[in-house]
Amino acid sequence: MILILYEWMCGAGDRVFEMTSSFSFFSELGERISTRTARVSTVGLGYVGLPLALTISEAGFPTQGVDLNSARVADINAGRRVISYFPEDRIARALDTGRFAATDDATRLADADIILICVPTPLSVARDPDMTYVVRAAETVAAHLRPGQMVVLESTVWPGATARVVRPILERGGLRAGADFFLGFSPEREDPGNHRFGTRDIPKIVGADDKHSRELLAQFYSCIVTEAVPVSSSATAEAVKLVENSFRTVNIALVNEMKDALDAMGVDVWEVVRAAATKPFGYMPFYPGPGIGGDCIPVSPVYLSWRARDVGSGTPLIDLARSTNETAPDRIAGRVAVELAKHGGVAVKGARVLILGIAYKKNVEDTRESPALYALNRLEEMGAICDYHDPYFPVMPQTRDHAMLAGRRSVMLTAQAVAGYDAVLVTTDHTDVDYPLVAGSARLILDTRNVFQAQSVTVPDGRLIKI
Ligand SMILES: NC(=O)c1ccc[n+]([C@@H]2O[C@H](COP(=O)([O-])OP(=O)(O)OC[C@H]3O[C@@H](n4cnc5c(N)ncnc54)[C@H](O)[C@@H]3O)[C@@H](O)[C@H]2O)c1
Repeated sequence: MILILYEWMCGAGDRVFEMTSSFSFFSELGERISTRTARVSTVGLGYVGLPLALTISEAGFPTQGVDLNSARVADINAGRRVISYFPEDRIARALDTGRFAATDDATRLADADIILICVPTPLSVARDPDMTYVVRAAETVAAHLRPGQMVVLESTVWPGATARVVRPILERGGLRAGADFFLGFSPEREDPGNHRFGTRDIPKIVGADDKHSRELLAQFYSCIVTEAVPVSSSATAEAVKLVENSFRTVNIALVNEMKDALDAMGVDVWEVVRAAATKPFGYMPFYPGPGIGGDCIPVSPVYLSWRARDVGSGTPLIDLARSTNETAPDRIAGRVAVELAKHGGVAVKGARVLILGIAYKKNVEDTRESPALYALNRLEEMGAICDYHDPYFPVMPQTRDHAMLAGRRSVMLTAQAVAGYDAVLVTTDHTDVDYPLVAGSARLILDTRNVFQAQSVTVPDGRLIKI
C-alpha cells in the first residue's frame, strides 16, 4: 500500500513538474514572441523559405535561414537577388539591419527559438509523395532540438504527416511535443511573382495537436502576416492546403475541357470566362493554358489522393482532373501538328518550332513540372525541330524529367530568327517579351495563353491561332 502511494505521489509529482515546465516554456516563448526577441530559423531558403525568412526579419525578429546549398547561401549573404521578382535590394536591406543572415551550418539551429521547415515535397519517380526532404530536415532539427523550442512544418504534406512522420523523429531524443517543445503545421500559400499578395498579405492557417502549440503558432504568425487562422489540428491545417490546390487542379482541368469544347463550337473561351467573371458570386475565373506546372498545383492533389487511398477512401474526380492536366501538353503538341498542316501544309516531322517560354508560369525562373517542357519533348518525339526563347533562362536548366534538354540555349528574339520558324508556340506569357516583334515576323503563332489579345498586340490576319 505504501509502495503504491509512493509511486502515485512520484508520478503525480512528475506530472506536476512536466505541467509546470511546459507552462514555463510556453510563457517564456510567448514573452519572446511578443517582444520580437524570439530567434527564428527557416530550414530551406527556396521560393518559400526565403520570402518567409525576409518577411519575419522585416517584422522585427532576428532571423537566420539555413540551407544545404552553400552557393545559394553565399549569393544571399552577398545580397544578390536570387529570386527575380524581388525588389532589387530586398535581401541587401534585410542584411543591413543585422537581423537576417543565411547559413549552411545546421548546428546553428540549436540557437533558434522557432524553427520553420520549408523544404521541397516533390513527387517520386513513381509519382507518389516524396517525403525524403522533410524526413532529412526533421532529422537535422531533431539533432539540435532543445526544450522550449517551437518547430513548424510549412512544406505541403498529406494530412497526418506532421503527427505521423515529423513528430516521431523529433521525439526520438526523449523530448515530447506539447510538453518539452511545441510542434505544429502552417501551410505555405506563397504565390511566386504575385505583386498583389506577398507573404505578409496572405492569411496563415495554423494547426497543432495541443493547446499550447496552437496558441504559440497563432501568436507568432499574427506578428508576421495580416491574419493567423487557427484550426484544431495539424492534420486539418495540412488538409486546408491540399483542398485549396485540388480546387485549382479541378477547375483548371474544367476550363481546359471547356476550351476544347467551345473551340469546336467556334466560341472563344477567354471571352466566355471574362464575361462569366462579372458574376459577383458563385463563379471564380480560371484560364486555359498548356497544362499545369510548378511545385504546388500538380503535386498537392497527389498527396491528397495518395493519403485517401491509404485510409481506404478515394478522390476519383481529382484523379480525373490530374490526368486531364497531365495530358494537356500532349494535346497541345497534337494541335500544333494539326495547325501546321492546316496553315501552309507543313508536316510536323521536320517543322521548325520556337517555344516561347519554358517557365511554368509567367515572370518566374522556375521550370518545375513546366508543361512547356513536356510539350517541347512531345513535339520533338513527333519529329519537330524545336528551339526556345525565355528571358529567365538563357540556358535550359537541369530537370529530372527532361535531363536531355539541359544546356540548350535560349535563342535571341530577332525578327529574322522568328521568321525562320514554321510556328511560334506561346507556352508562357512572360511580360518581358517583345510580342509586337513576334507578331510582325512569325509565320504562324499558336497562343496557349491568349497573351496577344491580352496585350492588344495585333497579328496579321490568319497568323494567330489560340489553342
Ligand atoms: N514554390 C511555390 O510556389 C510554393 C507555394 C506554396 C507551397 N510550396 C511548398 O513549399 C515547400 C518548399 O517549396 P519551395 O518552392 O520553396 O522549394 P525550393 O526547391 O525552391 O527550396 C527548397 C530549399 O530547401 C533546401 N533544402 C532541402 N533540404 C534541406 C535540408 N535538409 N536542410 C536545409 N535546406 C534544405 C534546398 O537546398 C532549397 O534551397 C514545398 O513543400 C512546396 O510544395 C511551394
